[in-house]
Amino acid sequence: MPRITNINDFKKAKAEKRPISMITCYDYQFARIIAETEIDCILVGDSVGMAFAGYSSTLPVTVEQIIYHTEIVRRGAPNMFIIADLPFMSYHVSVEDTLRNCGRIMKETGANAVKLEGGRDFVPVVEALVKASIPVVGHLGLTPQSIHKLGGYTVQGREDEKRKIMIEDAKMLEEAGAFLLVLEMVPEQLAADISAMLKIPTIGIGAGRHCDGQVLVITDLLGMDDSFNPKFLKKYANMHGMVRSALQQYHEEVVARVFPEEKNVFK
Ligand code: KIV
Repeated sequence: MPRITNINDFKKAKAEKRPISMITCYDYQFARIIAETEIDCILVGDSVGMAFAGYSSTLPVTVEQIIYHTEIVRRGAPNMFIIADLPFMSYHVSVEDTLRNCGRIMKETGANAVKLEGGRDFVPVVEALVKASIPVVGHLGLTPQSIHKLGGYTVQGREDEKRKIMIEDAKMLEEAGAFLLVLEMVPEQLAADISAMLKIPTIGIGAGRHCDGQVLVITDLLGMDDSFNPKFLKKYANMHGMVRSALQQYHEEVVARVFPEEKNVFK
């Protein structure tokens, strides 16, 4: 199956049992590189707050910042399916406020869809967005915007009651019209059960091997932070080491007058 281009392709991928690959992205250069790969779709996550801006949580991220980064990513990946994350408190106040924020995001960035965290409490919001022709991705399990309520970045849904609630929430989001569901830090069996129960695809991060697709934060996957090594992460590169040694070598060559060389100068 060729790369995903619209919301119907997600359902088709699930029907064909073809796993979906998603990656986060926040900037133009990485977006251009992603567009050269076969990765299916991009999430401009509010993880931008931690991975890019250095905040200690995703809570400070604003609608303006999501618009800024999504628009940049769209320029680097003009033909890819892009999901813009809705920041904390941008969809909590009222349906009207949510529609206004999402209207701006869709108009000003060229995103194909938005993502929001949470279950049954957000069903009216999901329904209103879908009615306004804005495709919605749900997000259950570890929902980082609720960090103060959850008390830590830990696996969610281990207890029977919480497991039952997550299954019900997943069903409600699907019925409300969400076309895709992210499951974060969920026991593998629970993610497998939800994936088997839903018609819409699930995308896992720390949710095991049986989701309909996977997502990773780009800076995690590339090994930018050598101190971040959660169990669910596979690092496909050691960019921290690579970048640090390139920068150190540049410094050493400047102070030793090795750079610039003859070939780098104008006559
Ligand atoms: O913000 C983000 O990057 C996310 C993914 C981790 C799913 O929500």
